[in-house]
Amino acid sequence: MVQVNVLDSPYAVTVEPGSLGRAGEVLRGLTKAPRVGVVTDDVVAPLHLPALRKSLAASGFEPVVATVPAGERHKTLQTISDIYDALLAAKIERSTPVIALGGGVVGDMAGFAAATVLRGVPFVQVPTTLLAMVDASVGGKTGIDHAVGKNLIGAFHQPMAVVVDPEVLRTLSPRELRSGLAECIKHDVIRDAAHFETLQRSIPRALRLDAEYLAELIAHNVGIKAKVVSADPFERADRAHLNFGHTFGHSIETVSNYRYAHGECVALGMVAACRLAHRLGMLDAASVDRVIATIAAAELPTGGLTLDVGAIVDGMIFDKKVKAGRVRFVLPDRIGHVVIRDDVPAEAVREVVESLRA
Ligand code: GLY
Repeated sequence: MVQVNVLDSPYAVTVEPGSLGRAGEVLRGLTKAPRVGVVTDDVVAPLHLPALRKSLAASGFEPVVATVPAGERHKTLQTISDIYDALLAAKIERSTPVIALGGGVVGDMAGFAAATVLRGVPFVQVPTTLLAMVDASVGGKTGIDHAVGKNLIGAFHQPMAVVVDPEVLRTLSPRELRSGLAECIKHDVIRDAAHFETLQRSIPRALRLDAEYLAELIAHNVGIKAKVVSADPFERADRAHLNFGHTFGHSIETVSNYRYAHGECVALGMVAACRLAHRLGMLDAASVDRVIATIAAAELPTGGLTLDVGAIVDGMIFDKKVKAGRVRFVLPDRIGHVVIRDDVPAEAVREVVESLRA
């Protein structure tokens, strides 16, 4: 159990094998509501909705389910509108919690719907991907994409609980599993040099779904995420460190029209950010190589980019961290520590994006 101490509404993240079957019980401990909204997608629903339904029924909840099409391409206002239709047709009330059952895309959309329907209803995250477990489900960022860029429309809406069952990862595709590992690498590079030391060697255990290791890895990463968002829930300061690799990554993701998975873009973004830090004289070459080797150990891309470099560089201006027209980069000055720089020469940015083509 990891506590997230945000504002006046702290919440617990339960990391426990088999906890999907106890989600109803966890929720019943927090609300007397007779009904609950469930937002899931058409890939996750056949795999995990029956277990969630059973658990909710056992705790006396009647679920109202909205199943949306899977994939980042559907993280749109239209899908949000469909979720509103389902929830409002069932006459949900302000006390009716909405559960996100799925990966980061479902969590972002269910959270945004929960933040806005009836001006806000309680929200619960039941993440089913490694990426959502270690990152997206904790911290209350919700939203959708805009044609101009990723996650540009949204709201902060903290969940009342997060229930993480590492056993559900058994059904996750290897590509999605690797995508989640990108966020684990990110957390250690920004905050935990000691854990980073062992991460590269341990990654094969995650790739072969070693349940004991995955539970440990998730708890470690939720711990880092919880600490960062508890200190800065609205990203007015150091929460922005969590965007290490994302300034480049989000632009790559948008330009690729979401052909790359989020974690693949973050992996490429971390390579670019480390090279940029090295080029600016902040990070030694050996550390750059170690980060790249760890990304490679997770079987994530470290190069081979075929997209238009100019479009990626131009796309970064839409990053949410842009302040007074200056792009702010999260750059490591050593493994375990990052700083924000807004004085990076455009030529250096172009060069490191160019380097991802190799
Ligand atoms: N995923 C970055 C954050 O939650 O701030």
